[in-house]
Formats: sequence, structure tokens, C-alpha cells
Amino acid sequence: MTRAIYPGSFDPPTNGHLDVIERASHAFAELLVAVVVNPQKRHPMFTLDERERMLRESVAHLGNVRICHFRGLLADYVRAEKVDVIVKGLRVVSDFESEMATALMNRTLSDVDTLFLMSDQRFSFVSSSIVKEVFFLGGDVSGLVPEPVLRMMSTKRSERSHRNGG
Ligand code: PNS
Repeated sequence: MTRAIYPGSFDPPTNGHLDVIERASHAFAELLVAVVVNPQKRHPMFTLDERERMLRESVAHLGNVRICHFRGLLADYVRAEKVDVIVKGLRVVSDFESEMATALMNRTLSDVDTLFLMSDQRFSFVSSSIVKEVFFLGGDVSGLVPEPVLRMMSTKRSERSHRNGG
């Protein structure tokens, strides 16, 4: 039985992430989707809890997917959870450079390989940061994020506007 892990910041999850999750869930017996506290992204918009909740609601239709989180090294988590393979999405060529170094480092540390899925072309331009920027400037991102994410983003926007007196 192959146990895979799809790690990411998911701040917030997009339809590009969901597409990778759905395809990986068909390819592997079990898929862990791990929300990672990424020290390089110091000011996440959503808390860990919120990110996990958005993911859980977005993958409710997939029986072999489990949402989790961890801090620290992916290689350590992979070993502790007896994961067989790491899954990542590749959108464009520029993703490849950093992903290659990460994959090789993770294999050096844990002996676990990374398998890449090409992002669906509909989502090759979609990232969490572009979605946040467009949404909070009033743009329509409804085709780009799962419904539970759109709801959570709308709640965030209302909270912000209340805080700012609007
Ligand atoms: O969605 P992101 O932010 O591009 O995902 C990057 C992530 C979280 C998968 C990556 O930063 C990661 O694996 N972080 C865990 C810490 C770690 O193991 N760092 C060394 C990577 S070689």
C-alpha cells in the first residue's frame, strides 16, 4: 500500500492544489495533505486551523485523503509517518529549479522520492498569493478556489473591513 504526502503552505488552498490532490488520491492508496509552517513565509493570512479546515471541507468527497500539519523538516515527518512518496505539483518551468533542489535534499535526508504532477493548464497561473491579492482588491476568484475557501476568504474580508471601521 503506497502512502503519499502532499505538503504545502496552502495559504489558502487553490483549485490548482485541489486538482493535484484529486489526481494523487487516485494514484495512491492513501494521501496525507500536510499543512506546513513555512518559516520563509512569515505572515500567513490564514491560521493553521483555518487552512486545515478549508482543506478538510474541500476534500470531503475523497475517502483516502487525510489532512494533517507539522513543523520542522518534511524529511523527519516523512520518516515518522512511514510515507513512501512525496507529491508536488509543477506549474511552470521556473518551479522546477527550486523543486529539484528540494526533492534531492529530501531524498538525501529521508531516502524518499518526490513525484511531480504537471498542473492542469487551467491552473498553471494560479498561486495562493495571486489569488489573495486579486480577491482582497475586489476581483472575482470564484473559479480559482474551492467553495469553502471562497467562504473563508469572504469572512476574512468582512473581519478586516470591520476592524478598519468600514
Ligand atoms: O506551498 P509551499 O510554501 O511552496 O510549500 C513549501 C513546503 C512547505 C512544502 C516546503 O517549504 C517544506 O517542505 N517545508 C518543510 C521544511 C523543510 O523540510 N525544509 C527543507 C526542504 S529541503
